[in-house]
Amino acid sequence: MYVHTVERIFYINKTLKQIYITGLHDSRWSPVFFNRMNSTLINNPLMEQIDEIGSLIGNTPLLEIKHAFHKPGIRLYAKLEWHQLGESVKARPAYQIIKDAIVNGNLSKEKRLLDATSGNTGIAYAAICARLGIPLTICLPKNASEERKVLLRAFGAELIYTSPMEGTDGAQAKAKALADENPALYYYADQYNNQSNWKAHYYGTAREIYHQTQGTITHFVAALGTTGTFTGTAKKLKEANAQIATIALQPETALHGLEGWKDLETAKVPGIYDPSWHDEIKAVSTLEAYDWVKIFARREGMLISPSSAANLAGAVKVAEEIDEGTIVTIFPDNAAKYSEVINTLF
Ligand SMILES: Cc1ncc(COP(=O)(O)O)c(C=O)c1O
Repeated sequence: MYVHTVERIFYINKTLKQIYITGLHDSRWSPVFFNRMNSTLINNPLMEQIDEIGSLIGNTPLLEIKHAFHKPGIRLYAKLEWHQLGESVKARPAYQIIKDAIVNGNLSKEKRLLDATSGNTGIAYAAICARLGIPLTICLPKNASEERKVLLRAFGAELIYTSPMEGTDGAQAKAKALADENPALYYYADQYNNQSNWKAHYYGTAREIYHQTQGTITHFVAALGTTGTFTGTAKKLKEANAQIATIALQPETALHGLEGWKDLETAKVPGIYDPSWHDEIKAVSTLEAYDWVKIFARREGMLISPSSAANLAGAVKVAEEIDEGTIVTIFPDNAAKYSEVINTLF
């Protein structure tokens, strides 16, 4: 059986009770003798289950946008991130966080996975935990949309509501307090400070983009929320080719309707945020995003979320400033969970 984390691959030979470890990009295998950690791996049915779920994560299509926007010399692409378990970009970090916690012995069926999230990460955790049989507690602001709450409940998550006035920062404080009170019960995933978050994009999203564009990408554009998507992808792309320009997006105002986006000037800055990987920050307004939702539906035949449309708005701003290049952005999810907004637009 093979199991891999973001940095290592384990080959587990149950008969010989031996484990071999290698780095992801290293062909040498080192044997590791049977010890406590290895027995956790060998006897842990979760390892096989989590490995199987891996086939449902990542490898999303890259769409070339030709009708909603066209400019000679420019190729514009978007990663359609709803094509995976949980139907959003957050399948990647949720999976990586859970997998690394299992491999490191921090999460088992005897513990509850705990985190603060008002949306996609919670749904991705819930979908993965449902398949693994791991109980899940999600702290979220009470005003999170009914569609999200229904999805979370459907996948069996326990929901703890926090004050709408405090947003996701309040939900984070609640999750941390619960974990501090009862460390034996919970594994607190803490997506804002968990290195597995950006590593999922470093090893997954960035590589896919590089291969899907045959290395021709010149500009990467994406929003900052927990900052995992942007940081992990931009870091790996820059390492592959330092000439690739990386443009981070922020909401134009602190109060905005872009689900998953954080205004880093006013919100609590995530611990994993690393400002060294963006060349530039551009602002996008919620109204611009709504316009692009409409344009995209009419010209490309896809109903995308306000967040995806805002990423498109940012990518188009970049396209308007250059004469030639290959721009890639991320579409974190489609419009399926946003009926409250979509009903007002059409
Ligand atoms: C719809 C949507 N857009 C953008 C983001 C931002 O991604 P990240 O948290 O990786 O910065 C998220 C994160 O939850 C999201 O759900």
